[in-house]
Amino acid sequence: MANHRLSKRAKALTGELEQLYTSLYPGHERAYREMLKIIDRAGDERPAAMKALDAKRLKAPDWYKSRDMLGMQLYVQAFAGTLQGVKEKLGYIEKCGVNYLHLMPLLESPEDRSDGGYAVSDFRRVQPALGTMSDLAELTAECHDRGISVCLDFVMNHTSEDHEWARRARAGEAEYQARYFFYDDWSIPQEFEKTVPQVFPTTAPGNFSWCEEAGKVVMTTFYPYQWDLNYANPDVFNAMTENMLYLCNQGVDVIRLDAVPYIWKELGTNCRNLPQVHTLVRMMRLVCEIICPGTLLLGEVVMEPSKVVPYFGTVEKPECHMLYNVTTMASIWHTVATKDTRLLQHQLGQVFVLPKEYGFLNYIRCHDDIGWGLDYAFLSRFGNWEVPHKKYLNDYLTGKWPGSPARGELYNDDPRLGDARLCGTTASLCGVEAARREGDGAKLAWALRLDLMLHALVFTMSGLPILYSGDEIAQGNDLSYHNDPLKAADSRYLHRGRMDWKAAALARDESTPEGFMFSGLRRLETLRGNRRVFDGGADVWIVNTGDDAVLGIGRYFRGEKLVALFNFSENEKTVAVHELGDYTDLLSGEKADLSAVSLPSGGFRWLICTFEETKA
Ligand code: GLC
Repeated sequence: MANHRLSKRAKALTGELEQLYTSLYPGHERAYREMLKIIDRAGDERPAAMKALDAKRLKAPDWYKSRDMLGMQLYVQAFAGTLQGVKEKLGYIEKCGVNYLHLMPLLESPEDRSDGGYAVSDFRRVQPALGTMSDLAELTAECHDRGISVCLDFVMNHTSEDHEWARRARAGEAEYQARYFFYDDWSIPQEFEKTVPQVFPTTAPGNFSWCEEAGKVVMTTFYPYQWDLNYANPDVFNAMTENMLYLCNQGVDVIRLDAVPYIWKELGTNCRNLPQVHTLVRMMRLVCEIICPGTLLLGEVVMEPSKVVPYFGTVEKPECHMLYNVTTMASIWHTVATKDTRLLQHQLGQVFVLPKEYGFLNYIRCHDDIGWGLDYAFLSRFGNWEVPHKKYLNDYLTGKWPGSPARGELYNDDPRLGDARLCGTTASLCGVEAARREGDGAKLAWALRLDLMLHALVFTMSGLPILYSGDEIAQGNDLSYHNDPLKAADSRYLHRGRMDWKAAALARDESTPEGFMFSGLRRLETLRGNRRVFDGGADVWIVNTGDDAVLGIGRYFRGEKLVALFNFSENEKTVAVHELGDYTDLLSGEKADLSAVSLPSGGFRWLICTFEETKA
């Protein structure tokens, strides 16, 4: 596909690409011409089936915002051993109602220095234990046949130290050293350290590592074996864009831009969210729009809300299609621990007024730790100060706090700053694990109710809800990682355990914890898909319940109104809600009186009202 064969739409996009490229890389015309060749080649290689999907999605560009979308993220190894294994288990995925599958990092990565696959040594090869690139293409094709889209991580901030570029850099090749950040001595790195925070203060302190073979210092923001790529070098941007397009052409629909805020570094800054990052993301968006317009960019921006939203770009110049609703996730866990919904109300209130076009990915748990990036300015109004508050949250969620049923573990505890983060599965953090161990039926019922309520909350929000594999059967923590020398230092493995297929077989029996959760979720997903009030175009607002322990959310769309109530307290509650209309409980079908709605502890209600005048 030579440039002249591009459609009018693609030509217009190429114009903007050229302008951005030459402003970021002035004087690099050769590199830009190379980029055009990359685009041409990827266009030629794009499989016909994917082109057909692109054409379909161009006609319905909001396909991923549909209310019947449900995602799941899973590790291939933990879920089914191999890519072939995942293919065989697609029936289960479908039974879960899932139509968006995030396969966690599966590209080649040194087993003993992998950061869960986020240290990629070859962007064109699948980890041999999981299968091959053609297995991946086969799996994506099968997923597409079943109406499931596939998300894959694109770990673009760094490569593994075993990547060919890193090996050549280590051997002294200047061209490859220029793809990373190499320094002859520690003077510049020390300058950086004055302004750059640390990602892994305990497991991998500092942002630089000494490279013995090269006799130089190399930038390693994450683990020492993850070398930061230098995107000021256009060869890096070109080669990585080519890698991304390669993955898109294997049938990947959603590219998760891993650690994207970090991809541009500048001395004297915190090296996060710099303006050039947005130029790079916009260029990647343009390249995708030109070659694979059905592909979505999902930005992993684990930052406070004001830093997250700019990654959507503008209406005229969009960047990411979707972003994680990370602060809401952390605020939910704060609410579980404090039973006070005021912060969550404040946080959700901010999300609800954002343009409806913004696509958020809503979730309770993912493969990473929970970082306590909360709105401390807001919390300080109630006398909650950052350091003691984090300590309380961690004490509660690790079960150290008297009476707490949660069973999490700390992550990257930094005693200097009082800044530990937290790990654990949803079920274990809700108390399911402790109740099962103690054989306490009442406690178990409460914990499961809370777990389901958190999911109901995620389903009440607009956006794409994502389940973390295993959560659909309330799977607990995996303590065995403590005995695995390759994992023991990283407590995120606590919630990355193997899928328990024996437990999954109980999903059919509602009297079991697995069945309670599985069928409860299925009911919620089906209601969400069927009722237009869950449409992304709905107005959403916070409903006053008169009780800080009970969160209220209202939704309205084309004559349907929903009042959703969530009781975080340990006691049963009855609240009065001042919203007009005759309401019915969506789950039980019974009439509801809004002047006295009762909620069990850890329970929720979805109350719906249809306005006469708009009835068909
Ligand atoms: C992202 C991933 C995390 C990984 C890091 C470094 O934050 O979610 O698991 O450790 O990037 O690649």
